[in-house]
Amino acid sequence: MSNVTAKEIRTLLRERNAILLAHNYQPPEIQDIADLTGDSLELSIKAAQTEAAIIIFCGVLFMAETASIVSPDKTVLIPRIDAGCPMADMITPESLKNRLSELGEMPVVTYVNSSASVKACSTICCTSANVAAVVNSLTESEILMTPDRNLAQYAASKTSKKIHFWNGYCPIHDELTEQLVLDSKKAHPDALFMAHPECRPEVLALADAVLSTSGMLKFAKDSANRSFIVGTEEGLIYPLQQANPNKAFYKASESMTCEDMKKTSLSDVLKALQTTTYEVKVPEDIRKSAVTAVERMLGITGK
Ligand code: 13P
Ligand code: SF4
Repeated sequence: MSNVTAKEIRTLLRERNAILLAHNYQPPEIQDIADLTGDSLELSIKAAQTEAAIIIFCGVLFMAETASIVSPDKTVLIPRIDAGCPMADMITPESLKNRLSELGEMPVVTYVNSSASVKACSTICCTSANVAAVVNSLTESEILMTPDRNLAQYAASKTSKKIHFWNGYCPIHDELTEQLVLDSKKAHPDALFMAHPECRPEVLALADAVLSTSGMLKFAKDSANRSFIVGTEEGLIYPLQQANPNKAFYKASESMTCEDMKKTSLSDVLKALQTTTYEVKVPEDIRKSAVTAVERMLGITGK
């Protein structure tokens, strides 16, 4: 059944000049049929550089919005419109404006894991990989970072600037405790611990490397070490293991599963292609402001 669906998907992708993108956390069967896998920003940027007319984004809503922001002339589809990000939903343009009126005017650095409308109200975007470079590129000495408080605290450890943070968090990464990591290290004493900056500060303090999902893929490949404890959503274990069949990867915790990232099935992808649903189109006024924040970031880091 799955094989038939995968074949139908590949045929339709060709016929419709469509490209299939899968985030590193997507289920293995989705990553297996994707044209491109990676983190959300790199996928959107690479898709923008292709001739494809349609982008099918297997991930969560803010990722499809980012694709629409950078590829306004392409049709962007998300197979599951109910695949959202609880952290991105922890801030709205209104709540951001209220906070700024309390704090006074200052640059707003917004993580790409956010809605298009929040990006549109921000000075500049950042990713988990470039947050320190982005923060340090600003001339102001006080900054508001949204929506992830853990990423903001990580940035604060890399700058002399005063970082005000939004109290948002990724429920999956924030639940990884220091004790779970210590237990994992005890069980796998030779393994290096890779942690995503969405984890709490006390967890990052135990890490051998603090990395984005793409950073973890590179680090594991380049490292001479044979085993790793993975401090991020469990979906990343699949591409890590595929790329490094002779190395061992252990979950830092058994409960790091993002349900939203697991919603998309092959039949959802097939339906998206057959019915051209669900289209994600960022309105032009919001897109213009949001793309400015994204391009400012790209101007600094190139990624
Ligand atoms: P990156 O893949 O950009 O590191 O993001 C992690 C994440 O939580 C995406 O939802
Ligand atoms: Fe959002 Fe966290 Fe899920 Fe990523 S893993 S989509 S940040 S809830």
